[in-house]
Amino acid sequence: MSRIFLSPPHQTGQELSLIQEVLESNYLAPVGPMLDRLENKMAEITKCPHCLAVNTGTAALHLALRHLIDLQRQQDSRPPLVIASSLSFIASIGPALQLGCDVWLCDAEEDSWTLDPIQLSHAITQAHAENRNILCVLPTDLYGQACDLTAIKGLCDPFGIPVLCDSAEALGVIREGPAPFAQVFSFNGNKIITSSGGGILASQDADLIAHARKLSMQARENVVHYEHKELGYNYRMSNLLAAVAVAQLDCLPERVQARRNIFAGYQERLKDVNGITFMPEATWNTATRWLSVIRINPHHFGCDREQIRSALEKEDIESRPVWKPLHQQPVLKHLRMFGGQISDQLFSEGLCLPSGSALNPDDLDRICEIIKTTV
Ligand SMILES: Cc1ncc(COP(=O)(O)O)c(C=O)c1O
Repeated sequence: MSRIFLSPPHQTGQELSLIQEVLESNYLAPVGPMLDRLENKMAEITKCPHCLAVNTGTAALHLALRHLIDLQRQQDSRPPLVIASSLSFIASIGPALQLGCDVWLCDAEEDSWTLDPIQLSHAITQAHAENRNILCVLPTDLYGQACDLTAIKGLCDPFGIPVLCDSAEALGVIREGPAPFAQVFSFNGNKIITSSGGGILASQDADLIAHARKLSMQARENVVHYEHKELGYNYRMSNLLAAVAVAQLDCLPERVQARRNIFAGYQERLKDVNGITFMPEATWNTATRWLSVIRINPHHFGCDREQIRSALEKEDIESRPVWKPLHQQPVLKHLRMFGGQISDQLFSEGLCLPSGSALNPDDLDRICEIIKTTV
């Protein structure tokens, strides 16, 4: 039996013909018609008229933050502060720290596992009391679940604080409520659709995307020779890889439905197991269930998430603990944290189960049988 991976790529069958189209066009470059097609498609899906394709989601975050820093620097010399979710991947805040921002972290809330607006309001109040310059709030849409943008924007809008949403894990989510200033998506190999690597910066703000586009190509000025008035990066996505992303995006609704069905399949099989609960679905969204995540109460279940993870691993099945909160990361221990108990507990009890959209009912039966007999 072959290994069951956590979230492997799922090809649609259209990738090769679009790659062929790119080869025939000879646009083997970080520009070309396939990139335009990808950006237009993402504009449709995200309802953001302005989209930029780059080589990673991390690069998209970096570009958005750099734009905000450049804008603020014209009016404010205080060091920029970013307030972010602690329950996330380190890529959410790596670019902010690398750009010299202070970063404060907030706990997750129990109902959605995303940024807790109560902790965010404490952080904003504290920042104002200390006369800090808040560059943006950076919540994560965790495991395909949208954060509570109505509450978050309700706290940010009165002060003009932009919200930059890390939606790397949440392409395809249907959210209610207001749109963020900008959103970042990832096409990394484990995401719901993949181009093996890639990212999108999406926004209603044409200036942000125009500046990010320029920065992503070494900030070359629009003249015939190479002229540079600011320093940029080489972050553009390849036109060849855009073909893979375009092919995959055609199946996005089916992929979301497949992941939701897998989540429902786990729920059905494990519903009567004492001590196992599931990541809740917040009322303000239809989550993608990018990953199916369970929570194991060791006192009620009889063993802990690590024992289940090892039992699955012994059968060549990959599962993974919920993100270790960023405030617990050795390299980030110095960052200021608001709350923390919820994400600490989710880390110690949460387990991400195999969730690839091609997972079949027999795989689900086998995984659930192993979980049930681990005790
Ligand atoms: C929450 C989160 N933010 C950012 C990223 C970074 O995306 P990328 O790997 O495309 O750089 C990822 C995933 O990889 C992620 O899960």
